[in-house]
Amino acid sequence: MSNYDVVVIGGGPGGYNAAIKAGQLGLKVACVEGRETLGGTCLNVGCMPSKALLHASELYEAASGSEFATLGIEVKPTLNLAQMMKQKADSVSGLTKGIEFLFRKHKAEWIKGWGRIDGPGKVVVKAADGSDRVLQAKDIVIATGSEPTPLPGVTIDNQRILDSTGALALGEVPKHLVVIGAGVIGLELGSVWRRLGAQVTVVEFLDRICPGLDGETGKALQRSLSKQGMTFKLSAKVTGAKASASGVTLDIEPVSGGAAESLACDYVLVAIGRRPYTQGLGLESLGLATDKRGMLANQKHRTGVPGVWVIGDVTSGAMLAHKAEDEAIACIEQIAGKAGEVNYDLIPSVIYTKPEVASVGKSEEQLKEEGRAYKVGKFPFTANSRAKINHETEGFAKVIADERTDEVLGVHLIGPSVSEMIGEYCVAMEFSASAEDIALTCHPHPTRSEALRQAAMDVHGEAMQM
Ligand code: FAD
Ligand code: NAI
Repeated sequence: MSNYDVVVIGGGPGGYNAAIKAGQLGLKVACVEGRETLGGTCLNVGCMPSKALLHASELYEAASGSEFATLGIEVKPTLNLAQMMKQKADSVSGLTKGIEFLFRKHKAEWIKGWGRIDGPGKVVVKAADGSDRVLQAKDIVIATGSEPTPLPGVTIDNQRILDSTGALALGEVPKHLVVIGAGVIGLELGSVWRRLGAQVTVVEFLDRICPGLDGETGKALQRSLSKQGMTFKLSAKVTGAKASASGVTLDIEPVSGGAAESLACDYVLVAIGRRPYTQGLGLESLGLATDKRGMLANQKHRTGVPGVWVIGDVTSGAMLAHKAEDEAIACIEQIAGKAGEVNYDLIPSVIYTKPEVASVGKSEEQLKEEGRAYKVGKFPFTANSRAKINHETEGFAKVIADERTDEVLGVHLIGPSVSEMIGEYCVAMEFSASAEDIALTCHPHPTRSEALRQAAMDVHGEAMQM
């Protein structure tokens, strides 16, 4: 039996950040991870490989379409999909090895195998060779993440009917890819394959894409993706799928009833959300149960069983890597007797399509529902000099501020490189900035970030628009 201050179960952004933080604070810590590599969904089959393919496919499309030619760069690119996949795998491998390095540096021990809780303070780890190792811990942190939500009647085989992991590893460009679910995964991975030459049809149950997004911003994104050639079938549900060696036939019905249709394609991506993962974790040994979505509830990362904590995708809140990371730090700080806290009101979200979408805080729809009076400032990238020079004028910056106090309540950006700009507003909003604070802050010229300032100026009708 080995004794630890903290045993973390799961080596994703929640788990690895918890283990590293615990090591930094001088706690004796082990992290149990069953995968071959650390990094969880995010590094292995999520954030990082998807961004590698988004980056490469964006450049491929820029080179093969009119974008490079407009700049006076004339090339005829050839797609080498095997190399595109290899550079993705190499980058991922570098990143997962980086986590192993950080573990060694901060004295966090990686215990390879699948962990099962066997009552308070006890974790049994099954290694690949079938052997069991028993760990004793003062505190256990559950960070077991999530898995794709299955769709009844559409069974994932990762041959023709794919989940996100399968869609990140295709050996050929689909002729026709049908994506079920117009959420973040569907739009990002749909974009990758469309840019590489696939016809892409997105089937969405609701009457809009990305339901959580600020409505105006979501509409702008749908317009843009449609212009790029993505087809949307909204308010539609897939009721069945027949897969063969060469393709899939889907049965699709309007949600409100009406004539069913069948849609033939060579690949299907099912991306209708993710659900918490607690299989085989031994929650029953603690008397803990999950809710009907499979979620393990928490109160400031505590499960209700003393010494058992939970963070990341497996518990409530946005299923995002940076949310898992923030929870990891706050949870370990609490275990170490410090005062860790996560500000759930200010977790940014980004969709890495082209144009990108980045949001933080409240949407107009949420504020209307809360009955809170607000004012909106908007600035289009067509009026931003850097975006104009770069021929990237699609989109806008939108700032929502409290009507009475002028405090910034929400920011919704759609446009070039907005993923890199939203952090400015996260900091500002942490300090309860007003729109006027942003409007009075000097921004460098010429940058796209000037649009953020101009949108704040527009809250008071003072933007310098052409
Ligand atoms: P995970 O990363 O899922 O890690 C959990 C780990 O626990 C896994 O490695 C699993 O093997 C291990 N595990 C589970 N049970 C056990 C057990 N019993 N014993 C041992 N190990 C166990 N988020 C973003 O913020 N930005 C993005 O751009 C982004 N892109 C994404 C793209 C895709 C295609 C997907 C699928 C997700 C993406 N996400 C993104 C979401 C992000 O990956 C997750 O929010 C994040 O990984 C959650 O971290 P976690 O530590 O809670 O769980
Ligand atoms: P999602 O929740 O973003 O979108 C799922 C979509 O599927 C929704 O629009 C929903 O209405 C629709 N849907 C649900 N059931 C359906 C059905 N039966 N038929 C048709 N449509 C249906 O989930 P997604 O895209 O699977 O992503 C999972 C998680 O991964 C997200 O919560 C997100 O936080 C995370 N992620 C984050 C990324 C980022 O930060 N850039 C990138 C990719 C994933």
